Amino acid sequence: MNQPVMEGLRLNVPAYVKHQRLIAWVAEIAALTEAKDVYWCDGSQEEYDRLCQQLVDAGTFQKLNPAKRPNSYLAWSDPSDVARVEDRTFICTDRKEDAGPTNNWMAPQDMRELLQTGDQALFKGAMRGRTLYVVPFSMGPIGSPIAHIGVELSDSPYVAVNMRIMTRMGRAVLNVLGDNGEFVPCVHTVGAPLEAGQADVKWPCNKTKYIVHYPATREIWSYGSGYGGNALLGKKCFALRIASTMGRDQGWLAEHMLILGVTSPEGKKHHVAAAFPSACGKTNFAMLIPPQGFEGWKVTTIGDDIAWIKPGQDGRLYAINPEAGYFGVAPGTNALTNPNCMASLNKDVIFTNVALTDDGDVWWEGMTDTPPAHLVDWQGNDWTPEIAKATGAKAAHPNARFTVSAVNNPALDADWDNPAGVPIDAFIFGGRRSTTVPLVTEARDWVEGVYMAATMGSETTAAAAGQQGVVRRDPFAMLPFMGYNMSDYFRHWLDLGAKLSQSGAKLPKIFCVNWFRKGADGKFVWPGYGENMRVLKWMLERVEGQGRGEEHAFGTSPRYEDLNWQGLAFTPEQFHTVTHISDSDWAAELKLHDELFTQLAYNLPAELPATKARIETRLAAKA
Ligand code: OXD
Ligand code: MN
Repeated sequence: MNQPVMEGLRLNVPAYVKHQRLIAWVAEIAALTEAKDVYWCDGSQEEYDRLCQQLVDAGTFQKLNPAKRPNSYLAWSDPSDVARVEDRTFICTDRKEDAGPTNNWMAPQDMRELLQTGDQALFKGAMRGRTLYVVPFSMGPIGSPIAHIGVELSDSPYVAVNMRIMTRMGRAVLNVLGDNGEFVPCVHTVGAPLEAGQADVKWPCNKTKYIVHYPATREIWSYGSGYGGNALLGKKCFALRIASTMGRDQGWLAEHMLILGVTSPEGKKHHVAAAFPSACGKTNFAMLIPPQGFEGWKVTTIGDDIAWIKPGQDGRLYAINPEAGYFGVAPGTNALTNPNCMASLNKDVIFTNVALTDDGDVWWEGMTDTPPAHLVDWQGNDWTPEIAKATGAKAAHPNARFTVSAVNNPALDADWDNPAGVPIDAFIFGGRRSTTVPLVTEARDWVEGVYMAATMGSETTAAAAGQQGVVRRDPFAMLPFMGYNMSDYFRHWLDLGAKLSQSGAKLPKIFCVNWFRKGADGKFVWPGYGENMRVLKWMLERVEGQGRGEEHAFGTSPRYEDLNWQGLAFTPEQFHTVTHISDSDWAAELKLHDELFTQLAYNLPAELPATKARIETRLAAKA
């Protein structure tokens, strides 16, 4: 049954596809969505170039000037489809408690009726007039025992080409899948059926959006959006929400973490995994260039956004980057903040929602000190510095993105693709906080580290639709990406730590950082970017049992003299501003931890309120 014909629709199954369950599922979705035809992606360069050209012909892509930015494209989305839609993202478990209070929930049968089975089901006829692309992908090195396979069925060629960069995609994945391998089924439609004779728009989407996960059956259904985090289903939907439930069931972790390697001048190498909320500098930290005073140090990138972390035979935790590319935030990226990233973007890039220069290149806020005299902004309007001054118009959307392959990164770690992963020495958790949280604190132990991560707060950014700059609790930087009950996830972290330490393994140390404290003038005090190396080095010294510090109510922090300041003029007064612990700020902060614990009361591990009580006792003793 390699070429089934369904009422005029050829499934076009390539001869190398032997997986009958996959073929039957493609047939079922093609019938449900009434796709015009079916195309199986093989992942070749020829196919990528052809689909990009097709997107240029459709007006979705503009090809950039090859002399400036070879083999690169620019897409401008519909202005209503520019970020993840957290209020439209659902975890559909049988019991509401299993999705937990931080997720939107609907009973699976109700959601299926809405999407698939009801008379007006959204996916019925949703791909009319469009091609269904079959996108087989591997999260993690193809064939690695840690990797998992997904297949995305999408009516968006933009998704197909982005998935080729972001994952290992195409025929090689189907070869590994063989005739009966397991895969996570992912269905995506922009939700804009084309009736006969109707002209297409440049960025089809629908104002109704649903980003839906069924953890029990490990399915993902996404409706109405073409934007990255809602549509590239390998990323947040699979590698975090569905994978977090797989990790819970199988004893591993799927985390919103970058992974980097640090090699000292003596050649000693450490690996750290660091969680920050979206648009808080993960890509910059993962590509950090050590500053003056750190001659001979090297930082290399394993991943910039997601880590899958599994216990190894030796009891240590090993991490892989399940992705193969970076879908990073462009605004603010420049030759000073992230030179490695700028070099990665020299060629073979898909840009989304940045501005177009008159010579066919791209620009975004913060790329250069002086903006070009004229641009076309991300909405297709003329933009000049004068217009921006008068109207506040941004040339690039604040959540404008680049999609680029990891192999473009000059700082790529030699082990980035190692199927065995890299051993993790330290976990870092960081929020964006203008006040309260000190530059760096080492947790006393695993449980207090889990407490720090669980109670993390951060000011919201443009990566998600909604108000920006308000502090919200973002446990483990996973709030938008948790596939199950947050309290059960805390339990999973605590249990994993207990199990590993019982086996005699050395657990990674846990640190909390905050690069974003502001002074009385409202400006950031810590210079950040490459200078974060100063803090990173201190953390690694602590891992080695060498770094000095001062213990306080929450853990241990360095004193001014414990960091290497060579090459940076940063005064003890400035250091005080980014490190001091204000009793009144912390009294208010701990009240917010209480609010979080009240919200998460169902199944909340007793260790967390107990840790809070210990902190309060220490603070009281100090007063
Ligand atoms: C991302 C995000 O795109 O976190 O990585 O929003
Ligand atoms: Mn992210």
